[in-house]
Amino acid sequence: MEVIIQKNKAAAVSLAAKLIAREIRKKADLVLGLATGRTMESLYAELAVMHNNEGLDFSLCRSFNLDEYIGLPPEHPGSYRYYMNEHLFNKVNIDLRNTHLPNGVAEDLDGEGERYEERIEACGGIDLQLLGIGCSGHIGFNEPLSSLMSKTRQKALTPVTIAQNSPLFDKPEDMPKRAFTMGVGTILESRRILMLVTGREKAQILAKAVEGPITSMVSATALQLHPATVVIVDEEAAELLQEKEYYHWIFNNEPEWEEFRV
Ligand code: GLP
Repeated sequence: MEVIIQKNKAAAVSLAAKLIAREIRKKADLVLGLATGRTMESLYAELAVMHNNEGLDFSLCRSFNLDEYIGLPPEHPGSYRYYMNEHLFNKVNIDLRNTHLPNGVAEDLDGEGERYEERIEACGGIDLQLLGIGCSGHIGFNEPLSSLMSKTRQKALTPVTIAQNSPLFDKPEDMPKRAFTMGVGTILESRRILMLVTGREKAQILAKAVEGPITSMVSATALQLHPATVVIVDEEAAELLQEKEYYHWIFNNEPEWEEFRV
């Protein structure tokens, strides 16, 4: 795992966008794993700007989102399909037929997890998985005690997650209490992972995720097992990290990061 600390949210978002753009330019039919949440809104806005100004081409990209609420149809403003259309898909030239989310209103809810895994496999697996982190330490909706080998399935959401996400609904009580999520095992199978975390309110959970012991109580700690994970954070989120100086040194000296240093 590598941790890159940027001075503020804008710089963190901009670096994350540049890394994603580099991967798309290297492989036009990149399979992207996508995330939702407030943190990702400015990242998707930046990618849309890169599409408009620099011609960043999504036409051959495929995408799989981490999760979707159960019971919300795609046209519901609280659904993650709606979110993705609004924030990214309608703003770039991705082919909507190549964009995938678990179907939260599938007739056969029990089979949906397995079908989603099969679709990911049929595309050759995820090349670059984008992640945020929830206040419960979840990645996707892998709430505490999610098996570190889990695959896409239904999860009941914790009170912490419901408190974090319900303000995003016009009527907070409309937020579903269950969701489909890729498993921790699904996420660990992606070739590269990019986690973006900003803001002081994430400092405590980020320190646990990055520097704490691996535990299913904080599913993000499983990323420590992944061979190619980069965590981009702003100074506020990095506040409680113990090895900040070392992380800065790596970013400022390793040749891999040269093109991204300003
Ligand atoms: C939701 C998503 C997570 C995301 C989290 C962070 O819970 N399921 O994938 O990481 O939100 O949200 P925010 O960026 O709003 O803090």
